[in-house]
Amino acid sequence: MTKIFGHRGAAGTHPENTMISFEEAIRAGADGIELDVHLTKDGIPVVIHDEQIDRTTDGTGYVRDLTYEELKTYNAAKDFPEITEGQAIPSLEEVLSFAAASKMLFILNIELKNDIEDYPGLEEKVIEMITQFQLEQRVILSSFNHYSLMKCMKMNPQIETAVLYMEGLYQPYEYAKKLGARSIHPVLHAAKIDIIQLSEQSGISVRPFTVNDEEAMLQFFESGCSAIITDFPEKAFLLRKKQKPAR
Ligand code: G3P
Ligand code: CA
Repeated sequence: MTKIFGHRGAAGTHPENTMISFEEAIRAGADGIELDVHLTKDGIPVVIHDEQIDRTTDGTGYVRDLTYEELKTYNAAKDFPEITEGQAIPSLEEVLSFAAASKMLFILNIELKNDIEDYPGLEEKVIEMITQFQLEQRVILSSFNHYSLMKCMKMNPQIETAVLYMEGLYQPYEYAKKLGARSIHPVLHAAKIDIIQLSEQSGISVRPFTVNDEEAMLQFFESGCSAIITDFPEKAFLLRKKQKPAR
């Protein structure tokens, strides 16, 4: 059965990459959550999508120029006035701690956001933290920076890695195998049915992003891909449930 990963939690209905967004995705029945990680000025892995905090918080500046203490003072739910309690940018530790304490054994797809900024030491810090929480079997590390993925695989081959890409990569499953990655995460337009089938048949999992409309969800459920990554995990969950054959 195709799994459902909540993109930045449940970004279609909740403030992206916040604790309430992750909690909502799990409540809604997601099998996993996707989240983005950058490094603060003082070297703390934090969960936010952009290099700058301006779009998603009431603060301004680059994550790399702000300490964790400074970052925590901003509200990452500024566009959700109905959420009266401010949502701080979570640290990766906070999210891993939530996952480790949860009865739901959901998957964490941690995207290393080091395709624009370098963030020296990011891989080491993230992998060390995953190991501390003993979450190696529940984590998939993905990145658009494939050099970083290679580094992760060398550091800890136990942790699954996924090749993120946006273009019509030729035989992406062969490329993933060459790197030693176990999966590919294509943008949905690059996830053609034959690519999905050849990839899954050859043991490389496919998880397209960001699959938000119902028709596309149904097509991907039928394609047999390992998972979809969606901003609307509840919608996907209900659709998948309806689709299941009656027994
Ligand atoms: O991991 C899939 C997807 O999140 C990659 O793109 O820009 O939403 O981080 P982006
Ligand atoms: Ca992402």
